[in-house]
Amino acid sequence: MSSPSSNAASVSTSASTTTIHLTVNGRTRTLSVEPRRTLLDALREDLHLTGAKPGCNMGQCGACTVLLDGEAVYSCLALAIECQHQAITTIEGLAHDDQLDPVQQAFIDHDALQCGFCTPGQVLALKSLLLRDPHPDDDAIERAMAGNLCRCGAYPKILAAARSLAGRAS
Ligand code: FES
Ligand code: FES
Repeated sequence: MSSPSSNAASVSTSASTTTIHLTVNGRTRTLSVEPRRTLLDALREDLHLTGAKPGCNMGQCGACTVLLDGEAVYSCLALAIECQHQAITTIEGLAHDDQLDPVQQAFIDHDALQCGFCTPGQVLALKSLLLRDPHPDDDAIERAMAGNLCRCGAYPKILAAARSLAGRAS
């Protein structure tokens, strides 16, 4: 899991808020936020995209995972203002034309969730891995998913879903 690159250029400020432009799921969104607003709070509270979950809010659980330019990041640790020049993908933006993303479909096919709280983050962490390595081995899968915790213990089924996407039988 990486941290977003810092890029706070081209902002206008008024009082304690700053106008920023975020590209979220292919749409440019304009927000007025405090500079300290996290990406997680901007997504959930300002844009009403609640797929990214507030778990620990301190970079330890992965429930808030989103993609920045295809790379999985903890949105609770990213400032919204830093993310203006990167493509942000949330779980809401993964399906296209009423077709689930293959990662979403694999989670369903392998029953890889219970309560579902961690699932958006798990799906996006795996999506990020597959974007850079379409055929990861088990070690690569476990390394990529290590920052995404599941209190329900769905790990074996998540691994089965990941293996199927990597082209291997579970
Ligand atoms: S809520 Fe971000 S890592 Fe836990
Ligand atoms: S499915 Fe419940 S926390 Fe993972």
